[in-house]
Amino acid sequence: MNTHTVTLIKGDGIGPEIAESLIRVFEAANVPVVFEEAIAGLEAIERFGNGVPPETLESIKRNGVAIKGPTTTPVGGGHKSVNVTIRKTLELYANVRPARTIPGAPSRYENIDLLVIRENIEDTYGGIEHFQTPNVAQCLKLITRQGSMAIARYAFETARALGRKRVTCVHKANIHKITDGLFLESFRQVAAEYTDIEADDVIVDNCCMQLVSRPEQFDVLVLPNLFGDIVSDLCAGLVGGLGVAPGGNIGRDCAVFEAVHGSAPDIAGKGLANPTALLLSSVQMLQYMGLYDHADVINDALLKTLNGGQRTRDLGGDLSTTQFTEAIIANMHPLRHENAVEEQAVRVTHPVPADIKEEWTLVGADVFTEWSGGLPPMPEQVGPLKLTMMSNRGTKVYPGPQPDILIVDHHRCRYTSDGPVTTADVLAVLNEVERLGIRWCHVELLNTANGQPRYSKAQGE
Ligand code: NAI
Repeated sequence: MNTHTVTLIKGDGIGPEIAESLIRVFEAANVPVVFEEAIAGLEAIERFGNGVPPETLESIKRNGVAIKGPTTTPVGGGHKSVNVTIRKTLELYANVRPARTIPGAPSRYENIDLLVIRENIEDTYGGIEHFQTPNVAQCLKLITRQGSMAIARYAFETARALGRKRVTCVHKANIHKITDGLFLESFRQVAAEYTDIEADDVIVDNCCMQLVSRPEQFDVLVLPNLFGDIVSDLCAGLVGGLGVAPGGNIGRDCAVFEAVHGSAPDIAGKGLANPTALLLSSVQMLQYMGLYDHADVINDALLKTLNGGQRTRDLGGDLSTTQFTEAIIANMHPLRHENAVEEQAVRVTHPVPADIKEEWTLVGADVFTEWSGGLPPMPEQVGPLKLTMMSNRGTKVYPGPQPDILIVDHHRCRYTSDGPVTTADVLAVLNEVERLGIRWCHVELLNTANGQPRYSKAQGE
């Protein structure tokens, strides 16, 4: 059996205490892993002025796998979150959070065994935000075909590797017809290749309601970033909260596993930390590495210990971190190396799908303007482009009777033509708007493909 090198970031607060527990449990279970320590978090900020030094990123890239304790993000001071830096720099596009019933963890439910797979890069998390007017802010929700297909494929591959039966796509495509529509379309396209696994979809609000009433009906959930962020915490709540929730961030070439909880500064150094979440993250890591037998040894010993009522203070027990660790080791049936089977690791080395090409025809533009006190006096027609609609906060306010709604100083003014137009025609509209003393703040071009609009309509249009 090969020995694997894994980057270990102990982290801040209770991080070193739970990392010590991890090291001891790995030794006792004869896990063929050697840890290469790297630093991130407060110590790195103090020593290098950077929460994630380049050497740490290099170590993760070199080893391909890392496990991390929680890191403290100082409030103020402009320091970026260590987790966000690692996730973005290494393009860890899949966030994988198992939610399984943990003995002793306070929960209203039994026998929950869910896997939440969240797209980790895109959606509103690009952080592309602008004030459009002093009163109106905007955030771009970017969903890509490549990103959506990658996460869908990761979900099906993982389901297959773990022997799971069903993958459910969670979305809001009934409202976000274009962005979530693309996520769902990509999911369905990938699902067609995995005929051995059941595939279905559910709207996110209904999903939340179903999760809190009958969580056991779901198996694997795959979601875009924002819904995934929320629903993965909801699922952690179903099985006893963030304190016992493990997680992994997976990329094409490397993966970083960590407990979901923070550095718990209130109990740091007191021997009260519960290492369960980090140990469950290590189980996930060993499965990722193909070391399924070792993953089972640690998982079984941990569950046996919790089931037997030996618990840390946060789960109502009286054991210190060290005593709990020793109890796990005492409950362990370690593998002998020669009996352990190393299986193919779950690697989703799929090619990035090529960009699809479409013939697009420019047919108009949405010109967003700042105007207070009623509708802006927009020109009716400029060249081939006619003013066909205005909306305020997405609701049509022109033409036709003005609805009795709150009107803010941000109007979408839609100019369209019966035939193709050019960007020069759009620029002519902007020049005319400016000449009339109306400030335009944003423009979106309107295109069709095969006669079908590649843009949304206004409510009531
Ligand atoms: P927290 O998760 O550190 O603590 C919340 C409560 O849960 C505290 O009462 C704490 O004692 C308890 N708790 C957490 N983990 C525990 C464990 N393993 N055993 C026993 N009790 C545990 O959340 P908080 O206080 O909001 O954040 C503290 C720091 O952690 C902040 O600097 C934050 O930025 C950072 N943080 C880091 C994360 C990471 O690196 N993955 C995630 C969340 C927060």
